[in-house]
Parts: sequence; structure tokens; C-alpha cells
Amino acid sequence: MKVLFAASEVYPFMKTGGLADVAYALPKALRQLGIDVRVIMPNYGDINVRYKERMEKICSFSVPVGWRNQYAGLLYLEEDGIPFYFMDNEYYFKRNEGSYGYYDDGERFAYFSRGVLESIKYIEDFKPNIIHCNDWHTGIIPVLLREHYSSDETYKKIKTIFTIHNLKYQGAFAKETLGELLSLGENYFSEDKLKYYDGISFMKGGIVFSDIVTTVSDTYAKEIKTPDYGEGLHGLLNEVGYKLYGITNGIDYDLYNPKYDKEIDFNFDENNIEYKCKNKMELQKKLGLPVKEDIPMIGIISRLVQQKGFDLICSVMDELMNLNMQLVILGTGESKFEDMFKYYANRYPNKVSSNIFFSNELAQKIYASSDMFLMPSQFEPCGIGQLIAMRYGSIPIVRETGGLKDTVHSYNECTGEGNGFSFTNYNAYDMLYTIKRSIDFYNNKDIWNGLVNKSMREDNSWNKSANKYIELYDKLLWGN
Ligand code: GLC
Repeated sequence: MKVLFAASEVYPFMKTGGLADVAYALPKALRQLGIDVRVIMPNYGDINVRYKERMEKICSFSVPVGWRNQYAGLLYLEEDGIPFYFMDNEYYFKRNEGSYGYYDDGERFAYFSRGVLESIKYIEDFKPNIIHCNDWHTGIIPVLLREHYSSDETYKKIKTIFTIHNLKYQGAFAKETLGELLSLGENYFSEDKLKYYDGISFMKGGIVFSDIVTTVSDTYAKEIKTPDYGEGLHGLLNEVGYKLYGITNGIDYDLYNPKYDKEIDFNFDENNIEYKCKNKMELQKKLGLPVKEDIPMIGIISRLVQQKGFDLICSVMDELMNLNMQLVILGTGESKFEDMFKYYANRYPNKVSSNIFFSNELAQKIYASSDMFLMPSQFEPCGIGQLIAMRYGSIPIVRETGGLKDTVHSYNECTGEGNGFSFTNYNAYDMLYTIKRSIDFYNNKDIWNGLVNKSMREDNSWNKSANKYIELYDKLLWGN
């Protein structure tokens, strides 16, 4: 079985969100289970030189983009046992910074998607039976495969699987994209194909034309069939229900292991959770917060965007400041949220530490030091922060949506069941109540230590989920 895994961002080369983590960790886990999976992504200008220097050019070819032919170089690098291919074209991918957000993103990913298909002719020792596409950037691959390659022997038998990491980002472009960039006829501008409001959607292409669609948790797979979460595609997602599966993401247990993590001050595991406290005191010192071992620290590591529930936090910030706790924030995003956290850090320097940037080192220190980890998302396809937090003994406080609902179960004081705290409605006071509830239990050390211990022992490694993907790959190839 040979799988070509196509993604727009892949850790450690380029990362803006959880997709990058998955595009590294899932192929790694699949390879450990014996699948020959290889990853292909764009060769962005700002991939670190230490990787660029090691890339080897294997061939070049041209890629049709509408009526033009554009250059593509194919580069290769093996990292952590995973073969990576990089599609090189400076005009499209050597930009000032980052991966997306350019006026011509539609053209850039139309090119990349067509290029992925073309590259198959030139990679000599690897003819995939499956192309695994991820999110809108590669959603058009199954469409192009069907339209432009179906008479070609090499391509005829290739199956496609499309994973939705976040339905919100549709990759919606003008109708003209069809002819000008994708060489597709007007007939694709229809409800049962790519039409999305007045334009077309690459995401919709992936959903309609791939053989199997997955998303990153069971609950999100159900939610996106409803108008509230369906981004206008809930009708379609109901129709394709027969080929839609939810598989919850894992995290890479080598990368995220408090026992060996080099970024944290005191390594620990579930047998010496008192070391969490030492980490907390170091972090308090570093961030200029009062150094106290028994004050609960709540961590937030996130893109500061609406999706993540920051308007809830905003509206009860004053009440939160009355609680006996410290709040440590790390991340960047919408300026209204950045400014809000800066304001409160200024006004309550003994309670709030706002770190409006991203640093992997600080992130790991916060996971290791915090007692609770807050994620009140409006929606959350899977969520990775809560999984890392649990592994580091930081108890998640989440809203019950998507993957948060599937991985965090509210503590029940009668039965002792549960590994975190959660609330159902998207409501600031329900969140506040839940935070208070967690602080009450924090003050009961027996209960709290039991919770920390339990959450650290949860198995959220990739192994289980990778096996589920293999089942789907099998189904695609052998229909069982
Ligand atoms: C997106 C989703 C997040 C998910 C990640 C990886 O970033 O918003 O919930 O964990 O993709 O699948």
C-alpha cells in the first residue's frame, strides 16, 4: 500500500496550526505500522535553511495552470524516517513570510494540487494507490484527478481520501477560477459539484469528489451535518454521510513527553507530579508573577481568534480577576483579543501574564507548569492543546464541542469519573462557573492529584487513530 499525503503545512517545516502537527505525526505513525506513506508540500521561501540545505532535487517538470505551463522542481528530504517531497516554484511559494493569506492563494493551490498529480509521473520508485488530501488547499486534487487523468493507466486506479481539519476555511474563489486556473468547464459551476454561493469552493471539491471523507473527531463529523457548524454545506455533508468518518487525532508521544522534554525546567511523569509545582514556580519567576506554589495557574496557548472562544473570556475577565488564580496566555491573533490580554496584564500584573507572540519553549513550559488549561472553543474540529495539556498533567477546562467533547470528560464527584471540566452551552457564565468548580477541586489535593494522574495516563497517542486510517485505506483498496 502506497499513500501520498498532500498538505499545505507540515511540522517542522511550516506551521500555522494543528494541520501541520497532523501532517507530520500521522504519516510517522502510519510508517511505523508498515504503510509506505510519503508527504508532499510546497517549498515555501521561509522553510528553515537547515532543512533547505539537505533537500535534494530529484526532477523538474511543468504544471498546467489554465492555459499556462508553470515550472515545478521536486525536492526530497527524509526527516525522522518520513520521506518528504517539496514542490518548488519561487514565483508561487517564495513570499515574504508564511504560507497563506496572499491575494493569489487560489492560483497557488490550484498549481500545487495539479503539481501533486503531475509529480506522480516523475517519482520513479513510488506510484501511490491512494492520495490523502487535507483541507481546502488540496481539496481540488480529487476533482482534477477525475477530470484530467481518468483515461491514464497510471492514475485510473488511484483512490482519494479527503480529511477536513477545519470546515470554516473553505478556499472559496471566483467562478472564473474554474476555467482560468483549473481547466474545468462551466458544468462544474453547479450545486452538485463546486458551486459555493456565487463562487466555487475547493473544500467542497474535496467533499464531493473524494472516495472517502474524514474529519478529525466523531462529534465534529456529526456537528458539520447541522446548519450551525456546516458552513452552508450541511446538506451536502448529510448526503455524503455514507462516506464520512470521524477519526480523532492523537499527539506525537515522542515530541510531547514531560519525562524527556528539553524545554521544561524539571522533567516529570505520573509518578512524580510534585515536579509540576517546581516548574510552576520557575515559570512564575520567569514571567514576573508572584511565586506561590499553591495558587492555581490557568494556561491558554492558542491562536487568539473568535473560534477559540475568546469573546467568552473577554466578557468575564473582571470576574476572573476576583478569583484566586494566575492566568498565563501565549499566542497571537486578532488585535482586539491581543489588546484585551495586554490591558489586563497591565492592570493585574500579579494575576495575568500575556505573552503575545509564539514560542515553542514557553508553550512547553506552560503545559508543564499550569494546573488547568482553558479551551472554551465555539467549535473545535479536534483540538490538540487539550491533549498535550493532559499529557503534561494540566487539567483541561473545555466547552463540549467537536474533539474537545470526545477527549475531555467532566469530572463527576460522585463516581470519580472524568479527566477534566467541561460545559455545554457557549455561555460566559457557564464557563466561569466551570472554572470556579475546577478551582474548588484544586483545593482538595487528593482529588486533584488523582485527576492529574488520570489525565497523564490517558492514551492519546497516534497509534489507535493511525490504525483507523489504515482500516479506511484497506476499505478503499479492497472494499472491505
Ligand atoms: C484545525 C482545527 C483543530 C484540529 C487541527 C488538526 O486546526 O481547528 O481543531 O485539531 O486542525 O486536525
